Amino acid sequence: MPGVAGPLVHLGVHASARGQGIGQALVEAVCATAQAQDASRITLRPLGRNLPAQQLYLRCGFTVVGILPEEFFLDGAHVDDSWMARRLSAREPPGQ
Ligand SMILES: CC(C)(COP(=O)(O)OP(=O)(O)OC[C@H]1O[C@@H](n2cnc3c(N)ncnc32)[C@H](O)[C@@H]1OP(=O)(O)O)[C@@H](O)C(=O)NCCC(=O)NCCS
Repeated sequence: MPGVAGPLVHLGVHASARGQGIGQALVEAVCATAQAQDASRITLRPLGRNLPAQQLYLRCGFTVVGILPEEFFLDGAHVDDSWMARRLSAREPPGQ
């Protein structure tokens, strides 16, 4: 996928294993794999109320690029969706 932006659609760590850095390792592995395939950017859409996920993505270099107000109606309440992105640096050409 040279030069394209792609979404990270699903990420989950079993509740019993959270808070040990597994989520961060998975995000970094996805970014490294996408970068190796010359992707330019990764996007994510965590719910606005999903603070654990947002904190993780911020720590991994993502920034919030947009908010979709009241995008969903969950458990009887309107919930914002957030849009986050991380630019991937271009790889050095072989021999550089
Ligand atoms: C989001 C998720 C993947 C993180 O996985 P993880 O293995 O716990 O992630 P890490 O251990 O690498 O990092 C955890 C970080 O989350 C944040 N965090 C955890 N619990 C939090 C809370 N209650 N409030 C705010 N931030 C929190 C912290 O920044 C924490 O970093 P710290 O250890 O320095 O405090 C995991 O919580 C999960 O599977 N959640 C349910 C599914 C989900 O929401 N997926 C994302 C959809 S976009």
